[in-house]
Amino acid sequence: MGQPASDNFSPIEPGVFERFGGEAFFEDFAREFYLGVEQVPALRAMYPEADLAPAQRRFQLFLQQYWGGPTTYSKERGHPRLRMRHAEFPIDSAARDSWLGCARRAWESTTSQHNVVEADAAQLWAYLEASAHAMTNTFDEF
Ligand code: HEM
Repeated sequence: MGQPASDNFSPIEPGVFERFGGEAFFEDFAREFYLGVEQVPALRAMYPEADLAPAQRRFQLFLQQYWGGPTTYSKERGHPRLRMRHAEFPIDSAARDSWLGCARRAWESTTSQHNVVEADAAQLWAYLEASAHAMTNTFDEF
């Protein structure tokens, strides 16, 4: 309210990024998430690059922009258009659940490590869950 519109495509209210602990939180979250991906062969196989570090950085930059931080993601990558960017990867319910498993473990360890208050942590989890469902693009026949 009363804040100028930001250019980070974020619906998040001002102050949330700082409450999470700024860039350090999102750096830790993305690192923990990709440590998880490395442990799940079927999920790891979906990532085209041999080195996960660039994907980890894109994930961190996207998340911190969405959650009200610096807009480096869009400066480097343009509009997120995440559903479009994921269209080349067949994401079925198994892939989504593996992804969410990695996200859940990263969320548990980093929200507790950074003492994120419960309401903010819950908002982040709801977002991750909803966006993982939105990214699903391959459906079982029934
Ligand atoms: C539902 C299961 C998902 C799977 C299996 C999946 C898989 C992938 C893969 C294989 C890539 C390519 C790696 C790269 O080049 O960066 C990627 C990129 C990316 N994913 Fe996901 N993803 C999922 C959900 C999500 C969700 C929910 C988000 C956001 C909350 C997200 C954010 C991103 C971002 C920011 C990139 C990099 C986009 C770019 O700038 O090129 N992903 N994902």
